[in-house]
Amino acid sequence: MCGIVGYIGHRQASDILISGLRRLEYRGYDSAGLAVVNGMLRVTKKLGKVEELARAVNTSQMPGSLGIGHTRWATHGEPSDVNSHPHLAASGDFALVHNGIIENYATLKRRLSEKGYAFRSETDTEVLANLIDDVRKTTGLPLPEAVIQALTQVVGTYGIAIVSGDNPDQLIAARKGSPLILGVGDDEYFLGSDAAALIEHTRQVVYLNDGELVVVSRNGYEVRSLDNVVLNKEVHELEWDLEQIEKQGYEHFMLKEIMEQPLALENCMRGRVKVDENEIRLGGLLEHIDQLRAADRIIICACGTSWHSALVGEYLIEGLARIPVEVEYASEFRYRTPIIRPSDVVIVISQSGETADTLAAAREAKSQGALVLGICNQVGSTIARETDAGVYLHAGPEIGVASTKAFTAQVAVLTMIALKLAQGKTLSDEQFSDYLNQLAAIPDQIRNVLQISDQLADLAQVYRYASNFLYLGRGFNFPVALEGALKLKEISYIHAEGYPAAEMKHGPIALIDRFMPVVFLAMHDSTYSKVVSNIEEVAARQGSVIAITDNGKEIEDKCEYLVRIPKTAEFLSPLLTVIPLQLLSYHIAVMRGCNVDQPRNLAKSVTVE
Ligand code: G6P
Repeated sequence: MCGIVGYIGHRQASDILISGLRRLEYRGYDSAGLAVVNGMLRVTKKLGKVEELARAVNTSQMPGSLGIGHTRWATHGEPSDVNSHPHLAASGDFALVHNGIIENYATLKRRLSEKGYAFRSETDTEVLANLIDDVRKTTGLPLPEAVIQALTQVVGTYGIAIVSGDNPDQLIAARKGSPLILGVGDDEYFLGSDAAALIEHTRQVVYLNDGELVVVSRNGYEVRSLDNVVLNKEVHELEWDLEQIEKQGYEHFMLKEIMEQPLALENCMRGRVKVDENEIRLGGLLEHIDQLRAADRIIICACGTSWHSALVGEYLIEGLARIPVEVEYASEFRYRTPIIRPSDVVIVISQSGETADTLAAAREAKSQGALVLGICNQVGSTIARETDAGVYLHAGPEIGVASTKAFTAQVAVLTMIALKLAQGKTLSDEQFSDYLNQLAAIPDQIRNVLQISDQLADLAQVYRYASNFLYLGRGFNFPVALEGALKLKEISYIHAEGYPAAEMKHGPIALIDRFMPVVFLAMHDSTYSKVVSNIEEVAARQGSVIAITDNGKEIEDKCEYLVRIPKTAEFLSPLLTVIPLQLLSYHIAVMRGCNVDQPRNLAKSVTVE
């Protein structure tokens, strides 16, 4: 949510900052801005996409080799030129960009107004800039120390970066609750709120932790805690490379990521699914697998699409390993004083590893003494670093705001965990081996499903003007119905709901008429005959039925469209059934002229509560 970039070195800062912002645009895209220092401080900011800013910077010329930039997802104050970042302090001495929310901004603003400060914008960020300004004026402290002192008065979350007009050799950044990474180059340094902003220039990075501030000069950097103790920080090597964050000929990142799923799952399972040895090896969980196996209950917390994969995880772990599972919205978990017993294990799932609510849930569980495991995609992310142990997805960077390959990789990881827990407990060696083989075959089966993309495009042509959609599934495919509806809502702005197929009779059936497309997940599994009855019920009311199925004979004449996909074991079917739903929403959104990769109002990583 919002993106921050920074640069200090020997090159033209504005070029590096703009290209960093382009790469971060998926984090927020309502406005963008730059501040560059070159004898003086110049700020250019614009409502709209980074391209608007790039045009403005071209005309205004911003020479200088030190600067900061920001792409915004509005929290306080509507998207506008004046509310975009960077924000200048009232003195005009320095400019600041900010991700996060200053919760006590109203109190601080009142105090500063009483002292004569005037505010140009409606943002909490300008309040922070003026607070630092005020501390600097009243104490005479140098800027880094004034920042530290001002931050002690702040309640809320922040990732900030600051440059000042009177110091052409200093970039300051600090974080609490909002990620920041320092990229270390040859006599140049890069700042980014995620690795995508800097991977073009360096793979050597320092992850800032909460409560840390970094002062970067042209020949070095110093990380301090907010109580001003100098810290020794490790330099890490980024795993991803530039190619992975480019579209590689695809029209959209989302399509690229849908198509990449076979490879993403192969990478996710590589070295883990060992068919020859009849074993699953999850290195990150080795030390904790016995505790997980002995758990009285597993609680899984997540948001959005990750919450849907958690629901699949519930069916998987309960069904295969017979361990009770509860799935929680991370945002609700911490606010209802959850009961966590010593025998519980908490798993948090997050593609980005930065979602504020999921991080807060992990912290809550840790503070209550639980073993907390993370399932993340972004290596080195805050959740990955703060959990006791975990499993990386290894799905590669996901840039499209609507999550696709992360979902299937999360489900694959949960499947591996469930099978590992079930091995020797509820599953015989033969059963385990059979399941392992079926899991290993999934990437190729997804390759087959992806070949019917054109069929889904034809369907999209028919249904693109619908105003509502219903997605129905049972058992393992109920969470997939939720995910299908979410995908459609997110990128095409068509209202869609996912329901357990049987629940349809308790409400949604009232909505069904010939204008209502109903997507059924009708795999030939233990729930099939019941789903067939539900299809009959919808067809009897003239609903327009689309069925995703591995069979279809019994339902052929009840459905308007059948989408045939390969057979697999019931517990593996979400990995296949979700693919046509991703493709359907993708094609509909493209045909409706929607911005698929950057849907309105959404952001890839929600780092505010
Ligand atoms: C946002 C994204 C979703 C994502 C959710 C959780 O809402 O738009 O695609 O599923 O956050 O993100 P996480 O990174 O924690 O999986």
